[in-house]
Amino acid sequence: MGVNVRDMSVQPRDHTDGKEMAGRTDEELFRAIKEGGQAVSKSVLMPPWGGNLSDEEIESIVSYLRELCKCKYGSG
Ligand code: HEM
Repeated sequence: MGVNVRDMSVQPRDHTDGKEMAGRTDEELFRAIKEGGQAVSKSVLMPPWGGNLSDEEIESIVSYLRELCKCKYGSG
């Protein structure tokens, strides 16, 4: 966890929480990462990464998130 996390008004998502994460489609996760939290009606504290990561990189992060939660959409 980063040094700022204890002061953040909204805490980042626990990506190992299979129940929460199963409520998200891969498209929503992709969009949250690429365009930031606001694009999926989440906190603006989640920054957009589209300027730093390619679509291919974001796709592999989405796959990794699915490994972390051991879940897929609708499985929770
Ligand atoms: C490349 C690294 C990161 C990835 C892959 C990532 C991924 C995600 C994803 C997929 C979501 C949406 C979760 C959901 O739909 O429930 C999210 C939300 C969020 N992230 Fe990140 N994130 C990253 C870095 C960060 C950083 C650096 C911060 C803080 C400075 C942050 C703060 C947040 C917050 C506050 C939310 C919103 C939670 C909510 O509104 O419920 N994230 N992140």
